[in-house]
Amino acid sequence: MEFTGYRVHPPSSSIQHLTEDENNDSQTGVNKASKGGLIYGDYLQLDKIVTSQVLQSELKGNKIHDEHLFIVTHQAYELWFKQVLWELDSVREIFISGHVRDERNMLKVNTRINRIVMIFRLLLDQFAVLETMTAIDFFDFREYLSPASGFQSLQFRLLENKIGVPHNQRVPYNRRHYRDNFRGEESELLIRSEQELTLLQLVEQWLERTPGLEEDGFNFFGKLQTNIFKGLDGEKEKIEQNPETKEEMMAEFIKHRDVFLSLFDEKRHDHLLSTGQRRLSYKALQGALMIYFYREEPRFQVPFQLLTSLMDIDTLMTKWRYNHVCMVHRMLGSKAGTGGSSGYQYLRSTVSDRYKVFVDLFNLATFLVPREWVPKLNPTEHSFLYTAECCDSSYCSSDDSD
Ligand code: HEM
Repeated sequence: MEFTGYRVHPPSSSIQHLTEDENNDSQTGVNKASKGGLIYGDYLQLDKIVTSQVLQSELKGNKIHDEHLFIVTHQAYELWFKQVLWELDSVREIFISGHVRDERNMLKVNTRINRIVMIFRLLLDQFAVLETMTAIDFFDFREYLSPASGFQSLQFRLLENKIGVPHNQRVPYNRRHYRDNFRGEESELLIRSEQELTLLQLVEQWLERTPGLEEDGFNFFGKLQTNIFKGLDGEKEKIEQNPETKEEMMAEFIKHRDVFLSLFDEKRHDHLLSTGQRRLSYKALQGALMIYFYREEPRFQVPFQLLTSLMDIDTLMTKWRYNHVCMVHRMLGSKAGTGGSSGYQYLRSTVSDRYKVFVDLFNLATFLVPREWVPKLNPTEHSFLYTAECCDSSYCSSDDSD
């Protein structure tokens, strides 16, 4: 059936007689659309969108009702992926252009990152609509889709890459690189997204500049190290004073101390970086920890919210993978995917920390210490952290590009 409904303007002469009840302020507006100009359907190009549900089952002469839902659900996901990419690119641009150095722009960064979080919350729920389709209903039209597969979703891969999923951490797809499934322009876009600065790298650079890390200034990390080892010595003394519990408590203490030895061991950090267990540079990790400890200082409140939202994105993407794999299990059992993977088994292996980009932010909780071990801010540092500053460099302008 050809779709024409959105191009028809309403007849201008269809004035209706109103009942006494309706003859009030609710009817005093002007019907602008009847005077020409842009109308809803044209603005949104709905003629393209609502005519893009082509059922393969219908084309093959065996129209299956639920294929419509299957197509609309995927299209809705792709539209939201597009919006996420839009927000993500704009945030990356604020970092890349240096506008982020003017702290007034952090509000915009946070708002957009938070919007991505909200979209992902919505995307988790959308699976429930598709799950109203039973495995048998899906089976009725599945053969018509092959070899199309969600694995070929360009936008999903761009999203992963731009956030910062490193390609050497990806689960191989039938022992092959994920990009082997893409050709031509799509493949080029993916290569470009792997080469551009990712959100992770940009956040890393920003964290490295955290005020207070300077060794010749407040020297947060140096002071923290001194305080922690002083605190640990105190704990050890207390343990040694009680011979009854000494042995048991000492074993605990050694584990606890090893955690901090690893925190202050840069070589160990570099090793963990090389195996993908840590993703942030040593300096950036220190910046993140500083923001954690002093999150109540006005200058660190917005940065702290940003770090929280970045963890939200990771958590929600992991939940997305989990909801998706549960649905796939229910629809396919242990059958192979239309794209050729082992299906459920392959997808299950992707619900893993390998895909957690901001894994270091989660692990910061390991290094939390009693408040009295956190270095006290001196008056200079305290007033510095109290006021958000607009730096003196040429970067110092608000990002009003839009
Ligand atoms: C009945 C519903 C669905 C089934 C049975 C299904 C099945 C699968 C399977 C088996 C794979 C692995 C690749 C393959 O061998 O084909 C896959 C991957 C994928 N699917 Fe779905 N899927 C469904 C719905 C969706 C929806 C609604 C989306 C939303 C866009 C989606 C997006 C993806 C993505 C992005 C991948 C790649 C995941 C990765 O490699 O990490 N799928 N799907």
